[in-house]
Amino acid sequence: MKLVFLGPPGAGKGTLAKGIADQLGIPHISTGDIIRGAIASGSDLGKKVKDIVDSGALVPDGLTIALVDKRLKEADAKKGFILDGFPRTVAQADALASMTQLEKVISFEIAEQEIVRRLSGRRFHIASGRSYHVEFNPPKVEGKDDVTGEDLIIRKDDQKEAIEKRLEVYKAQTAPLIEYYTKAGLLVSLDASPAPETVKAQALEIIHS
Ligand code: AP5
Repeated sequence: MKLVFLGPPGAGKGTLAKGIADQLGIPHISTGDIIRGAIASGSDLGKKVKDIVDSGALVPDGLTIALVDKRLKEADAKKGFILDGFPRTVAQADALASMTQLEKVISFEIAEQEIVRRLSGRRFHIASGRSYHVEFNPPKVEGKDDVTGEDLIIRKDDQKEAIEKRLEVYKAQTAPLIEYYTKAGLLVSLDASPAPETVKAQALEIIHS
């Protein structure tokens, strides 16, 4: 399956994509994880985009398009993938259409108030991209990743000002993709507000329908 998970920050795309991609035996490709990896490694790309990401703005299209183009050419992505956080602009969507033929775009729908609750309580394992939540999905040991036992962090872009910026950017640049993919006959909406197990079951139903 060649899938895109589209939705506002904090809708639960990453949490769901990890579990579902494992279950389907396809890679979870998160541009956010790839970019944070570049920042953590101190690479030239990472240095160039760190301030942009921390502020909640978007990295330039040319950079993310090149990252995804390279990633989709890897062997494991030939049979399918879940793209999470890409595309985020019409230019990215047009570029993706020239790289591959998508099967479905799942649009995560959730109220803004709930997004703020989810992002303000998120705790993050930077090496794996695993997300926890202090209330809704706490780690087994407070402040530690369940798998590696390493420290969890609060992402800089989960601070109040950056959340506001990300929501603004989402509405202006990414939300138009809902219409874009509706017109392309690819969009299916998903209510992302219930508990993770319920959202996962509904997403799997959409994927297999
Ligand atoms: P990215 O990492 O893609 O951030 P995002 O899209 O804002 O998404 P998030 O990771 O914040 O949220 P999510 O929907 O994955 O939610 P999660 O599952 O963690 O991008 C970060 C930055 O990188 C961008 O701002 C930009 O600068 C740059 N970037 C990335 N891609 C780019 C692109 N294509 N173009 C340009 N720039 C790009 O869940 C959130 C919280 O809720 C967690 O605490 C989780 O435990 C909890 N939760 C999840 N599901 C539920 C549930 N059902 N019920 C209760 N709690 C839940």
